[in-house]
Amino acid sequence: MLNIALPKGRLGEKVYRMLAAAGYSCEELIKDTRKLVFTDRQNGVSYFWVKPSDVTVYVEHGVADIGVAGRDIILENSADVYELLDLKVGRCRMCVASVNGFREDPSRPLRVATKFAHVAERFFAERNRDIEVIKLYGSIELAPVLGLSDVIVDIVETGTTLKENNMGVIEEIFPISARLIANKARCKFKREEIESCVARLKKELPDD
Ligand code: PRP
Repeated sequence: MLNIALPKGRLGEKVYRMLAAAGYSCEELIKDTRKLVFTDRQNGVSYFWVKPSDVTVYVEHGVADIGVAGRDIILENSADVYELLDLKVGRCRMCVASVNGFREDPSRPLRVATKFAHVAERFFAERNRDIEVIKLYGSIELAPVLGLSDVIVDIVETGTTLKENNMGVIEEIFPISARLIANKARCKFKREEIESCVARLKKELPDD
């Protein structure tokens, strides 16, 4: 039995369809929207719907053998897991952005609003730039618009949110896509099942 943590939401549903096509379908999962654990003994799989930022936690603790998490979450959580496969979906970019025309004052710490405090701290530390992190949980773009921060470190997908708020990308930090991750110990104990899952999933990846 393979225990798989999927991120709740559109990305998770897309990845589930890839897994189902790869032979890990679980009929029940698409029928019941509030249930969180689904087991299909016939296909030897158990799925958990997990908050996207928690997937790495379930996998690190081995409650899930494998899971799907964005590269943003893996890096922010410094997750101690194996990254097995780039699933080539959920593509976007981690960026520094601000309101158009923003001019940085190098004489004081840069105020950075973000959900990704560790990513921001690491990025600016590498540049020896002092920052003050302002941790937010959503609608990050509001912060520089209202003067709460100088810049944001956030995900940019289509760029629409920035554009509609008179903002722009200052610098890209790293590209993001969904990754198949695995618990390190489970990779030994369930090597065959996990290797077979990776091989089957590789055939279902979208074209570049
Ligand atoms: C994400 C991200 C940006 C937006 C970017 O927010 O934080 O706000 O999507 O997408 P775009 O470039 O296509 O406009 P999300 O929708 O997850 O909601 P949140 O503001 O609650 O984080």
